[in-house]
Amino acid sequence: SLIPVILAGGKGERFWPLSRRDRPKQFLSLDGSSRSLLQGTADRLLTFAGGWDNLWVITSSQIAQGVKEQLPDLPSQNLLIELEGRDTAAAVAWASLEIKKRYGEDAVIGFFPADHWIADQDVFAHTLSAATELANSTAAIVTLGIKPVFASTGYGYIEQGEKIGCFNELPAYHVNCFTEKPNHETAETFLHTGRFSWNSGMFVFRARVVLEELRTHSSEIIEPLEQHGPDIYPQLPKKSIDYALMEKTSLAYVLPVEFGWDDLGDWNAIERLLKQEHNPNVELGTHVGLDTQGAIIYASNPDDVVVTIGLEDVVIVRDRNVTLIVKKERTQEIKQILKTLQSDP
Ligand code: GDD
Ligand code: MG
Repeated sequence: SLIPVILAGGKGERFWPLSRRDRPKQFLSLDGSSRSLLQGTADRLLTFAGGWDNLWVITSSQIAQGVKEQLPDLPSQNLLIELEGRDTAAAVAWASLEIKKRYGEDAVIGFFPADHWIADQDVFAHTLSAATELANSTAAIVTLGIKPVFASTGYGYIEQGEKIGCFNELPAYHVNCFTEKPNHETAETFLHTGRFSWNSGMFVFRARVVLEELRTHSSEIIEPLEQHGPDIYPQLPKKSIDYALMEKTSLAYVLPVEFGWDDLGDWNAIERLLKQEHNPNVELGTHVGLDTQGAIIYASNPDDVVVTIGLEDVVIVRDRNVTLIVKKERTQEIKQILKTLQSDP
């Protein structure tokens, strides 16, 4: 069996102003469904956990209250609250220590981002069984690889090595090399070799395996946690698991997966998800456009009207007191401009 842990401490800043400090991306529903991304992630994992008793969530103190409201059935002892977000390496380390304490060192743990879109739940479940089987059979850090479609600089890249066998009918491969968020040129090269997949950000391994690997490659994170417990959190280095472990370990394996995936990284994801043939724009809210195409329009107040003339490839978002207008290709920079705003308005 598999103990799933949802990583729910991120801010999702690239979806600002829809995502705000008190309402990060994982609390939103971006695909028009009534469940938020976090709730959708929990729904998907519940069958695996065999109910709420074995489903875990790790998040930061700023948004813990929101997590409790969104997941009222989550037992409080399964909610790990970080004093301060220290990125995903610390989150994986602390959660793995807690799970080892409760279930023993051979427990298979899966880490799952709280903010992804997955199309086919059955194929997803089948793939997770395969990952669990692989993690049980050998000392493996299992990654789920997504077939890349463009030279994204926002993902980790996994270079596929030798095939090691099949698990739940899915082929598994050694990982030759893991590269987190390469520059554009490197991403192009990776894409053209045909040997790389995108890292989905989901990881499966036995508690003992991940803890040993963290001790070898990131002792500055795991040792303080083991010695002092989670009170040490604010002093831990801020590092993602991709840099802290995945780029360094030689125990990584990859299962190429095909369940239909999107990490909903920024506003352009809304277009990938919701674009309709007959409409030149993606409209969530009332939009009246003349000579406007390729626009993504979002207005959260049903009384608001967005009017555009002669625009192309822009994102326009009206939410509460903020209006954002940005060229589609520059939505990654929302993160930067937020730093220059005094307080999140
Ligand atoms: N508990 C906790 N604490 N969770 C966190 C923290 C933290 O400090 N920081 C981020 N998270 C959560 C986010 O909410 C998200 O669900 C998940 O961890 C991944 O963090 P992101 O910040 O979204 O990572 P990323 O998208 O830049 O990169 C990762 O995901 C890509 C796929 O979406 C990497 O694993 C890449 O290699 C991967 O391709
Ligand atoms: Mg992400």
